[in-house]
Amino acid sequence: MESKEYLPFEKKSPERNRHPPSSIDVAESDIENSCVNRQFESIMTSKWGADTTGAELVKEFAAEIKGKAILVTGVTPGGLGAIFAETIAKAQPSTIVLAGRNKDKIKATTDAIQSANPDVKVKVLELDLGSFSAVRRAAETINSWDDVPHIDVLVNNAGIMAVDFGLTEDGFERQFGTNHLGPFLFTNLIMGKIRASDMPRIIVVSSDGHRLGVIRWTDYNYGVGSARANQR
Ligand SMILES: NC(=O)c1ccc[n+]([C@@H]2O[C@H](COP(=O)([O-])OP(=O)(O)OC[C@H]3O[C@@H](n4cnc5c(N)ncnc54)[C@H](OP(=O)(O)O)[C@@H]3O)[C@@H](O)[C@H]2O)c1
Repeated sequence: MESKEYLPFEKKSPERNRHPPSSIDVAESDIENSCVNRQFESIMTSKWGADTTGAELVKEFAAEIKGKAILVTGVTPGGLGAIFAETIAKAQPSTIVLAGRNKDKIKATTDAIQSANPDVKVKVLELDLGSFSAVRRAAETINSWDDVPHIDVLVNNAGIMAVDFGLTEDGFERQFGTNHLGPFLFTNLIMGKIRASDMPRIIVVSSDGHRLGVIRWTDYNYGVGSARANQR
């Protein structure tokens, strides 16, 4: 079956083709087409692409990274979060907050950053996104840090994928709890620090997988997975 997201515009909006186009219809579709064209043009003419490295981007945007306080979640060595933190450290952010659930793994990333960039302040935040109480504790901790008065960039990177069915301690399917509910709660609980920045950014690292389906709000705890797990 054709995925809804990939349907061409006229198939997505059949109601627009019901009547002969009025001047308003034409004007709207012209605007829409020209926006799409502009986006397409900017992608086609961009000097960045799939082959661009993080190091190249950091070099180009070093002035924007310098002096910023940046918090990234999920910083296990070798993963995207750790590589992101290690790469941006070269442009001298004021502070990097490394958040994760495993102290030893965070320490390894901290050591890698500090040995290459001794001037960059690195702070460690214990954060388990699969537990609301742990998320609340982590938010309380960071909100109490006077030496981090604001967070300029929050990168919600941590996540799990295609894990066996299970529930978080709060009773939510654990991929949904860890990837969506935990980060949402965390982001909101530290919003004061984020809004204290002159130019705050919140990045949510996602996946093309979201194109494959939608959240089933009537079954957010994935009953099928639960039934399968019970059969084992
Ligand atoms: N790599 C890809 O091709 C790809 C593709 C699409 C999307 N993504 C997304 O990109 C992000 C990073 O992926 P990655 O490939 O770097 O994965 P990864 O190496 O498995 O890193 C995931 C990170 O999330 C942490 N994490 C997992 N559960 C957590 C929890 N309950 N609380 C706090 N931290 C937790 C992990 O910590 P532990 O080591 O302690 O488990 C790890 O540091 C994820 O959001 C992923 O969905 C990646």
